[in-house]
Amino acid sequence: MRSMAEQVGTCATCGAATATSRRRHARYCSNACRQRAYRQRANEPGTAALDSFIGRAGELDRLTTFADARVLTLVGPPGVGKTRLAKEFTNGQAHWVELSSASSQVARACATALGIGEVTGEPVLSALVRALAGRTTVLVLDDCEHLAAECAALLEPLLLGCQGLRVIVTSREPLRVPGEVLFAVQPLPITCAVELFADRARANQLGLRLDDRAALTTLCARLDRLPLAIELAARLVTVLPVGELLAHLDDRLELLNRGNRTAAERHQSLRAAIEWSYDHLSADEQHAFRCLSPFPSFGLDVAVAACDLPADRVLALLSSLVAKSLVTSAGAGRFEQLESVRLYGREKLAEQAEVVLARVARTAEPAVARTLSEREQQVVALVAAGRSNVRIGAELKISLRMVETHLQRVRQKLDLSTRTQIADWVINAEGGSPRA
Ligand SMILES: Nc1ncnc2c1ncn2[C@@H]1O[C@H](COP(=O)(O)OP(=O)(O)O)[C@@H](O)[C@H]1O
Ligand SMILES: [Mg+2]
Repeated sequence: MRSMAEQVGTCATCGAATATSRRRHARYCSNACRQRAYRQRANEPGTAALDSFIGRAGELDRLTTFADARVLTLVGPPGVGKTRLAKEFTNGQAHWVELSSASSQVARACATALGIGEVTGEPVLSALVRALAGRTTVLVLDDCEHLAAECAALLEPLLLGCQGLRVIVTSREPLRVPGEVLFAVQPLPITCAVELFADRARANQLGLRLDDRAALTTLCARLDRLPLAIELAARLVTVLPVGELLAHLDDRLELLNRGNRTAAERHQSLRAAIEWSYDHLSADEQHAFRCLSPFPSFGLDVAVAACDLPADRVLALLSSLVAKSLVTSAGAGRFEQLESVRLYGREKLAEQAEVVLARVARTAEPAVARTLSEREQQVVALVAAGRSNVRIGAELKISLRMVETHLQRVRQKLDLSTRTQIADWVINAEGGSPRA
């Protein structure tokens, strides 16, 4: 027997009652709603994935167990496959709001995706509540990390006003909205990672033979089993055989830069994907991120020494970097970084040291600066860049005792006693901040 709702019929777009004939219900209440539905479907990435989807059966199963969650947030590092997993999970059955290119106005983007027309003078939030109240709707907010606060501010009243609304979010960091359930998307298991590489490589070069399983496994492991990095690497097989690719993995940020033209700009290269996260960090988070880049795995003591900041501050910065998916907490007080992310940090660290060195060389007090030996200038630069003595020793390949001796001479020559004063001296020389 049919339910009451089925007999009455509701519009698939706006939920209003629809005309019912003896044989069938109208799917839409008006032509406008039918056209909105067509426009929406054309934008639905769930139906738009043209390449094969690999693995993730376990994730898809587990996601179905969160049917009660009002906000389900898929979190994880850049390129791990959050968006793709959300697409496969919702399979074209959700309204998709793509936020990667939006700089604000999340509510308006939602209204557009839902095909909700605006009434002059009515706040967009009220229009959304009016249209969604009493309806069962799944909304996907894709790529939200840069708009986390705005998304959270919108979702709270929206979810309260619309009991039938469920939201699936993809983001590098949680929205921190009441009722949010977090689902951490992990890199692919190694066998799936290899399968993905082989699939995309063969699509790029028909008939390609990939016999060296061991090399493929190493390649995918060093690419952190990240689908984005693997897809970008697979594009290179036409010009670089796998062995060559492996040999050049330290230059991956230079090499992995030819993504799909249709992908968002920050998914066309590995560097752009990570840069997007780095650019959205505070200056202190950036400092910690750079200082931690030499260490694939570390504990709090190493982090404190590397960042040269008090332990409580370092812990707070580490928590933010973990929340933003740039550092992973490995349990038992250990932290880890993906190799690609770490290489990006190292690049930034090197840039920073160069910037500071250039500042010292161009100092406003050339007479004083000239009295510093080249090595002392390097030490000054690294102190100003926030490096600890241990790190300076490691970077300049000199002993800790030598670092201390150089620092002692610098203090005498510049007549400065603390590291902060040395950093200030460099900053004042250029009129900027070495951490900027
Ligand atoms: N399981 C998978 N099978 C096939 N391709 C995948 C898979 N996961 C991700 N991809 C592809 O990898 C790229 C990056 O994934 P994406 O979901 O955009 O990452 P994220 O949203 O986490 O930044 C996309 O081209 C996507 O289609
Ligand atoms: Mg995404």
